[in-house]
Formats: sequence, structure tokens, C-alpha cells
Amino acid sequence: MKNIVVLVSGGGTNLQALIDAQNRGKIPNGKISCVISSNPDAYALQRAEKNDIATAVIRRKDYENQLAYDKALVGLLKSKNADLIVLAGFMTILGEYVIQSFRNQIINIHPSLIPSFCGEGFYGLRVHQEALKKGVKVTGATVHFVNEICDGGAIILQKAVEVQNGDTPEILQKRVMEQAEWQILPSAVSLFCDDKIIVKADNTTEIHF
Ligand code: GAR
Repeated sequence: MKNIVVLVSGGGTNLQALIDAQNRGKIPNGKISCVISSNPDAYALQRAEKNDIATAVIRRKDYENQLAYDKALVGLLKSKNADLIVLAGFMTILGEYVIQSFRNQIINIHPSLIPSFCGEGFYGLRVHQEALKKGVKVTGATVHFVNEICDGGAIILQKAVEVQNGDTPEILQKRVMEQAEWQILPSAVSLFCDDKIIVKADNTTEIHF
């Protein structure tokens, strides 16, 4: 059984999708053991508490520099015996020390089809604003491993979602969450816990469904 630690910053609808999947028995080889938030007021923390999942808060601004923060976060993750770390709307940048300490054990959900609309500055609603500005007809979501390049780690799962006439960033964000994010994140977590994802040297993955 793999220990899953979920890192959050906000509302936590992706965390909820993971909790629901776990409660429905869809992640048989994993258990969400802790939710860590960068924000003490994140609603995601209440979702965890309602489900008797341990919580912790760690804020970047409480540390002098990136390395001090990274070391504290790695210490916390090790104390929770994390096998898999899921970034589910986590808005704090992780430094190299964290990434190297948990190589191929950190996954992120991004609200576009990478390599479109990703990289530094592309998070949350901004991603959908840019997609609408460009006029793309299809967007979606991506689950990928986290490496030193922002949104540049090996892709695990992707799902496409249609853009519709009259979409606002908010409407598109909701459709991408409902039709893509809340489906592919639990699936990717389950595949990881089943040891079905192989990361290859060329920064791609092979999935054994
Ligand atoms: C989600 O749309 C997630 O894909 C996005 O933030 C939102 C968090 O929502 N993440 C990023 O943009 C990361 N670059 P949630 O707190 O309701 O899960």
C-alpha cells in the first residue's frame, strides 16, 4: 500500500476527486495519508478533516530562502513516509532539493494539454484566459511528473475538452475540471500505486493499463 500525500493551496476540488475515488475503492493500492497546504485558509483542509485525513500547513514566506523551505518540506514529507506526492492545485514553486529528493514520485495536474499554455505564470484561471485568447477549439488537462522544468516532466495522462461558443475562462475552467481533471488525476494516482507507470530516459512514460 502506497502512502499518498496531497499538496494543495485552494479549494481542493481535485483533492475531493481523489478522496471520492479512494472511498469508491478506485485506488486499491494507495491511501491518502496527509494533506499539506501552503495556505492555512484553504478550503481543501476542511475537505481533508471531514474525511479524517491528517493535515499540515507549510508557508514559503516563513522561510528565509528556497533551500530552507525545501528542506522543511522534505522533512515533513519524509516524516509522513510519502511514496507519492500529488500537487493538486498547489501554487508554491518547489525547488531542486525537493524534486531531487522525490525523483519520479511527484505528480502534478495542469489545466491544459501540455505543451500548450504551460510553464511559468500559467496557473489557474490564467491558463483558460490564454486558451480563449488564442481561440483554440480544444483544450484539456494533463497529469505529469514534476522535474526541474516548470510543467516539463514526463506526461502520464491527458484528456481533451471542447471549447464552446460563449465560453468565459470560468465556464471553461469548470468544464475542464469536470470532464478532464477530476477523471485523469485519480486514474494517474491509481496507475502509480499499481506500479503501472514506467518513466523512460527520454522523458516520456510507458503506461501498462
Ligand atoms: C486546478 O484547475 C488545477 O489544474 C490548477 O489549479 C486548479 C486547482 O483547483 N493547477 C494549476 O494551474 C497548476 N499549474 P482545486 O484546488 O479545486 O483542485
